[in-house]
Amino acid sequence: MRLGFIRTLATVVVLSLVGPFVRNALAEKIVVYGASGGVGRVIVEEALSRGHDVIGVSRDPKSLKFDNPRFTAAPGDATDPDSIAATVRGADVVVISVRGVGPGNTPQEAVTFRAATAYIKAASRLGKATPYVIQIGGGVTLYRHGVRIMDTFPPGTERYAVAQGHWLAMEAYQHSTGFDWTVMSANTGSIQERGEYTGRFRLGNQDELVDRKGETYISRQDFAIAVIDMAESRTVTGKRVAVGPPY
Ligand SMILES: NC(=O)c1ccc[n+]([C@@H]2O[C@H](COP(=O)([O-])OP(=O)(O)OC[C@H]3O[C@@H](n4cnc5c(N)ncnc54)[C@H](OP(=O)(O)O)[C@@H]3O)[C@@H](O)[C@H]2O)c1
Repeated sequence: MRLGFIRTLATVVVLSLVGPFVRNALAEKIVVYGASGGVGRVIVEEALSRGHDVIGVSRDPKSLKFDNPRFTAAPGDATDPDSIAATVRGADVVVISVRGVGPGNTPQEAVTFRAATAYIKAASRLGKATPYVIQIGGGVTLYRHGVRIMDTFPPGTERYAVAQGHWLAMEAYQHSTGFDWTVMSANTGSIQERGEYTGRFRLGNQDELVDRKGETYISRQDFAIAVIDMAESRTVTGKRVAVGPPY
C-alpha cells in the first residue's frame, strides 16, 4: 500500500517535471505561411513557446526574424502548388495566414482563395503525406443576427474581395477530400491588434460569438492560443470554427 503510494507520487513528480518538455506528437513540426504578417507572427511565437519546430514561409524569408533555434525561415509561395508540396512535405501541421488581393479586386484573385486551391492541388500530389492544414478565415464570413456580415460590402472594393476570398477558400476546403483541414475565423476586427494573453476563448460554428456584455473582442494572442491548441488536438476538422471571447 505504502509502496504503491510512493510509486504514484514519484510518477506524478516526474510527469510534472518533464511534461512541459514533451512535445505534442500531432504537431511536432508546424509550417506557417504568413509568418511575417501581423497574425501569423503571433501564431509562430505561440508555437515556438510550446516547443514546436516551426518553419516560417515568406516570399522574402530574410525578413523573418525569430530568435529561436527551433525556427527556420523558408522561401515559398502560398499560391503555387509545386512550392507548397515541396515545402510542407514531412510537416505535421500547416497554418495558412495570408492576405492579398489582385488588381481587379475579384474574389478569385484573393490570396486566401488562391492559397486554398493551391493547397488542395498540392494535396492531390502528396496524397497521404498531406499535413493537416489550418487556414485563418475572415470574421466577416460569420453571421450576426442571422445575416452574413460581408453581405453589405460593395462588389469591386478590396473589402469585398478579401471577404469573398475567405468565403471561397472555405467552400474549396468543404469540397476537398483526402486530408484534414480546419478554417478558423475570429470575430471581425477582433484580432487587428495584439492585445493581452488571457488564455481564454470560445469556439463556435457559423455565428459571431459575444460575451455576456455583447462584446466580440478576442486578442490576437488568445487567437494564436486557439490556433495552436487546434493544431495539437485536431478536435474540429472538416469544418469552419468561429473563435470569440468566453461568455
Ligand atoms: N478576424 C479578424 O479580426 C482578422 C483580423 C486580421 C486578419 N485576419 C485574417 O488573418 C489573415 C492574416 O492577416 P494579417 O493581418 O496577418 O495579414 P498581413 O499582416 O497583411 O500579412 C499578410 C501575409 O500574407 C503573406 N502572403 C501574401 N501573399 C503570399 C503568397 N503568395 N505566398 C506566401 N505568403 C503570402 C505575407 O507574407 P510575405 O509577404 O512575407 O510573403 C504576409 O505574411 C488574413 O487572411 C486576414 O484576413 C482576420
